[in-house]
Amino acid sequence: MRVELTVNGEVLEADAWAGESLLVTLRDRLGLPGSKNACEQGECGSCSVMLDGVLVCACLVLAVQADGHEVVTVEGLAADGELHPVQRAFAEAGAVQCGFCTPGLVVAAADLLGRNPRPTDDEIREALSGNICRCTGYAKILDAVRRAGPA
Ligand code: FES
Ligand code: FES
Repeated sequence: MRVELTVNGEVLEADAWAGESLLVTLRDRLGLPGSKNACEQGECGSCSVMLDGVLVCACLVLAVQADGHEVVTVEGLAADGELHPVQRAFAEAGAVQCGFCTPGLVVAAADLLGRNPRPTDDEIREALSGNICRCTGYAKILDAVRRAGPA
């Protein structure tokens, strides 16, 4: 099936089979491997993207459901060659080890800070509760989100 998506501001088309996830379409057909495929069951958050401004697991959305809609992936966060503040904060805080969870966490944290620029630690934990990291123990990730918010 032919699907047309606006991805990171660009209208793109792809052929997707009827049961294909948005994640597979992004990674395998549209050349956007930033969103990671770890569980394919909605458990880990590594595939987090924004769909019409709402945070979703791209592995749980069919490509055909996204047809005609707007997707922002981690690749779309940086602008004009500059890292997004959340991306910079993750690097500066040392919140990245293997990095597999990082794109999903960055998208989820950017979503949180877009809605709530000064989240409490509990609000950060709640917002990132769908994103699993096997490496960092989460302390540095919290540091990064605190650092990315306004001073
Ligand atoms: S790959 Fe989508 S939630 Fe894990
Ligand atoms: S840095 Fe390895 S899973 Fe999070």
